[in-house]
Amino acid sequence: MRIVILGSTGQFGTDLMKTLREDHELIGLTHRDLEVSNYSSCLAIKEHHPDVIINTAAFHKTDQCEEEPEKTFLVNAIGPKYVSSVSREIEATTIFISTDYVFDGTGKEPYVEDDLPNPVNTYGISKLAGELYTKQNPKHYIIRVASLFGVAGASGKGGNFVETMITKAKKQEPISVVDDQRMSPTYTADAAKTIKSIIESRLPFGTYHAANGGFCTWFQFAKQIFSLLNMNPSLTPIKTSQLQVKARRPKFSALTSTKLSKYGMQAREWTEALSDYLVEKGHKQQ
Ligand SMILES: NC(=O)c1ccc[n+]([C@@H]2O[C@H](COP(=O)([O-])OP(=O)(O)OC[C@H]3O[C@@H](n4cnc5c(N)ncnc54)[C@H](OP(=O)(O)O)[C@@H]3O)[C@@H](O)[C@H]2O)c1
Repeated sequence: MRIVILGSTGQFGTDLMKTLREDHELIGLTHRDLEVSNYSSCLAIKEHHPDVIINTAAFHKTDQCEEEPEKTFLVNAIGPKYVSSVSREIEATTIFISTDYVFDGTGKEPYVEDDLPNPVNTYGISKLAGELYTKQNPKHYIIRVASLFGVAGASGKGGNFVETMITKAKKQEPISVVDDQRMSPTYTADAAKTIKSIIESRLPFGTYHAANGGFCTWFQFAKQIFSLLNMNPSLTPIKTSQLQVKARRPKFSALTSTKLSKYGMQAREWTEALSDYLVEKGHKQQ
């Protein structure tokens, strides 16, 4: 397949490029090459004659999204509208990367694909709008992921949670982490493999959850990082209410996939994925 990847040098884009490169013809487009919120810029995708367009581009600094709703909607909703429209014109498949933040987090069991979205912040609302626009191309996959960690680090966030924790620990800073928000940490290398399997197996179009298995609080995530690295920093659990943040966060946004397990695709546990990440990033020996 000829596959165009938008945001190809981002955290997820980097692993998608690595994973798909072997078996497919890839065209990676960076933010410099293409502005997703500009229709004429998106029209350039056509020149590449892709079979599949994967859109990882996003404005995803959750608190900043509250202050910049227009930019948030331009990048996360209007951009996907243009991508979906261009894909439809050339009969290509659109893949939109979405988020656990489309859910309100009031549930107690991990969310499955058919659960009703009800986002509680601007970022989540804009990504849900991006999902709806993506559906305007019948040939679409909406892939929801969560709390990503990948070797490239998120360009939009300046790294990822794992690296932030390790840096703070090395500087011997006291670390406080929320212990009342639960989510499914997800290794971008694993999610990229899931997308590869979905498109190669030509699974029915629609929405899929591609997070790693299991869930934890951010505090438990931090504890696991330090335990795997034999580090022992000063780590304190805190409540979300102790933080001054602009955006509301879902309390429980773990994802699971009933659809992928039906096709024999079982996501491995986040703890195992984290261990591999730490090795790949050079923090730990095999
Ligand atoms: N990170 C997470 O924890 C997380 C969790 C759930 C879902 N997601 C979703 O997963 C996707 C990938 O996240 P990521 O962690 O890989 O983010 P990332 O590293 O910030 O990658 C996003 C890429 O998109 C590019 N980009 C940003 N704005 C753009 C625009 N207006 N037009 C074209 N390109 C643009 C960025 O380039 P520049 O940096 O040069 O602007 C970057 O290369 C996003 O859709 C995000 O909503 C992420």
